[in-house]
Amino acid sequence: MTDHPYNEMPRSDDNQSLFRPVAVGGRGLPGNLALAPMAGATDGVFRAICREQGASLTCTELVSARGIRHDPGWARSWRYLAITPAEQPVAIQLFGADPDDFDYAVRAVLEHPVLSSAFAIDINMVCPVPKVVGTGAGSALMRDLPLAARVIRSAVAAASGYEVPVTVKFRTGWDAATADTPAFARMAEQSGAAMLMVHARTRDMMYAGQADWSVIARVKAAVSVPVFGNGDVRDGPSAVAMLRETGADGAAIGRGALGNPWVFAHAAAALRGEAPLPPPDVAARAQTALREVRERAANLGEARGVRESRKSLLWYLHGTPRAAETRRRAAVVESLKEVERLLADWESSFFDKNGAVHFT
Ligand SMILES: Cc1cc2nc3c(=O)[nH]c(=O)nc-3n(C[C@H](O)[C@H](O)[C@H](O)COP(=O)(O)O)c2cc1C
Repeated sequence: MTDHPYNEMPRSDDNQSLFRPVAVGGRGLPGNLALAPMAGATDGVFRAICREQGASLTCTELVSARGIRHDPGWARSWRYLAITPAEQPVAIQLFGADPDDFDYAVRAVLEHPVLSSAFAIDINMVCPVPKVVGTGAGSALMRDLPLAARVIRSAVAAASGYEVPVTVKFRTGWDAATADTPAFARMAEQSGAAMLMVHARTRDMMYAGQADWSVIARVKAAVSVPVFGNGDVRDGPSAVAMLRETGADGAAIGRGALGNPWVFAHAAAALRGEAPLPPPDVAARAQTALREVRERAANLGEARGVRESRKSLLWYLHGTPRAAETRRRAAVVESLKEVERLLADWESSFFDKNGAVHFT
């Protein structure tokens, strides 16, 4: 370990808060709990809600650098690129495998009047899906360090004129047999990345199996830039455990935030050593679910906004008693009226005729 201040491993017997601001390049994050980007789930509507609940950093879903270069008017990309002040600080995540695409896309994004407000440009070297790795992008770059370095350098050179940091999100490696995550992390730092986020699974694990946090600790020990650990952090205790076990500067929460944006407030309280917060009650869950659907409907039109919110409704209802019938209805809702009725019925199912609550 170096003596860089970010490498100070918190001791388990001290009561120093684990919730800390983080410096990324020349910029500051208000805290160290990030919403991990998830395509199809973490759109601007959800990102703003997570930010309100205390997420210190959010990130767009992955956007193709080549698409930005070759899609006139960004007809296909804009929906995924659009960011709003309510989500700040928000990074824009690009994927691709051609350094020239990154050179073009980073400059184009940072020249744009809205997108230039991005906190950072994040490069996706993490995505495992065949459609992405088949083009040499995403986690496929973990098998080609020279190309990964050229991609990062190209993005860093393009972003430097705008003083915007470039961050990199990657996995443990392609597979357990070939993974050398500290070497990859050093390459990313030497290529100019200002912050690293490690999803502690290999590509061949996809999203299954347990994340190996020991890899996060090895990455943290290998570099001086801030490191965010990711994988299986889903509540206050797991956020505390991951940061204590690894010495990472921050934690990124993905699936644990789906239908549960409150996880950021809960995790922040745990990192500060405060008493656990009460879980959100059914009214808060119903109101937040409805807000998501309404805002998506306002952005995309009612039919599409409602259809694209079915999944999030299921996430908000998940794990509650009497949810089975509600879930069946949620899977086929078509209009805001139906969503309102569904959530009102769901909420009232928690109260008996005397107004007593069955479940919160
Ligand atoms: C449905 C889904 C979509 C995802 N999309 C992205 C993405 O666009 N960009 C990215 O960097 N990671 C993406 N990820 C990975 C997550 O950001 C995160 O690294 C992973 O889910 C592990 O964290 P968790 O255990 O907290 O969920 C996605 C994950 C899921 C489940």
